[in-house]
Amino acid sequence: MPQLRILTGITPSGTPHLGNYAGAIRPAVNASKQPDVESFYFLSDYHALIKTGSPERVQRSTLEIAATWLAAGLRPEKVWFYRQSDIPEIPELTWLLTCVTGKGLLNRAHAYKAAVDKNTAEGENADAGVTMGLFMYPLLMAADILMFNAHKVPVGRDQIQHLEMARDIAASFNHRYGEHFVLPEAAVDDAVATLPGLDGRKMSKSYDNTIPLFAPPAELKRRILTIVTDSKASGEPKQTEGSALFQLFQAFATPAETETMRGRFAQGIAWGDAKEALFDKLETVIAPMRARYEELIAEPQRIEQVLKSGAERLRARYATPFVARLREAVGLRRLDQLPAAPADARPQAQARPQVKQYREADGQFYFKLVDGEGRTLLQSHAFAAPREAGQAVAALKNGEHFAQWADLANGASASDVTRVLAALRAE
Ligand code: TRP
Repeated sequence: MPQLRILTGITPSGTPHLGNYAGAIRPAVNASKQPDVESFYFLSDYHALIKTGSPERVQRSTLEIAATWLAAGLRPEKVWFYRQSDIPEIPELTWLLTCVTGKGLLNRAHAYKAAVDKNTAEGENADAGVTMGLFMYPLLMAADILMFNAHKVPVGRDQIQHLEMARDIAASFNHRYGEHFVLPEAAVDDAVATLPGLDGRKMSKSYDNTIPLFAPPAELKRRILTIVTDSKASGEPKQTEGSALFQLFQAFATPAETETMRGRFAQGIAWGDAKEALFDKLETVIAPMRARYEELIAEPQRIEQVLKSGAERLRARYATPFVARLREAVGLRRLDQLPAAPADARPQAQARPQVKQYREADGQFYFKLVDGEGRTLLQSHAFAAPREAGQAVAALKNGEHFAQWADLANGASASDVTRVLAALRAE
């Protein structure tokens, strides 16, 4: 039975906080309990090397994050739970993908472009301080995903572009070497809470406004006391809208408890009392997990064993045979088994896909994208000049999103377009 495969990576470069728990860990642990899904959760420690130069920090964070997921209820016998660097096939696949990926694709990655823009604004050399690790980040991530042919990848909005790139890369490889990869999709859940931090902005390590998930109770209380509120006195009605305190409470309370708290806000609860209530609520949810977490952290050899065993089984089940197949497909083959007649690895191409530019009776200029069977997949809007149409075609081929110039036609889907554009680029 084809199962839905869901995969996501967590980069071990810090200490887990409440925002990580509500935004990623809790929904993932819940999703992993659904029937008919095969879930993959891994610690992307190769990615951590891009973010930090501190070996101690990578190691410590890997331990803390692994323990957090287990304490939060992840069942390593029910899901694949592993560490990226325990799967040597992942860097191997990264290279195979690197060889079918245009440099231009990576030039457009947001994280890389942001670094270049910052350098340019500061009058520095465009690539100052940019490592190849940062530049290649989306390729390593594509290998993580494509290695297990994941269908859905739960990620935050900031990662959507990386998923689009993974699809492009998979399509290029499939076009050249045959259908080996599923085209993965980002799953962005708008219902999942983005928690505010102590200062009301999104809770994030980079704003230094976090509440560590497993801080001891006294520290948890101390942090809660520093949550920014307005200066309304006790007895004055308070707004729930825009209140970080209220949102944090809501993320951990039942709907009924949330309504009760809403009532207390309207009746002018004192901020001190609201903070006390938030502390009590968090403590009820977190205390049992914290106890499990502390037990786990105290026995790192058990966690090491869980991760090693996950990776070992996963390699045997998927990674090793799959990479063997891919090596064969690209021509990294035994020498004593030459094919009878030398054959091109390319699947026999039918008619080639193409972009046709033309002028209509209305005097305007148009283009359309046609696949190998002659079906029109995209029909452009009108352009006043041929040059404009030509620029749009170039940008389209370059991977920019088509919606600004053209509409899907004949029931084609965006993934049909991605596939055909990859085919065009590969020529
Ligand atoms: N880039 C992701 C992040 O920083 C982590 C990650 C690495 C990942 N590899 C992945 C997420 C593969 C999903 C799939 O959040």
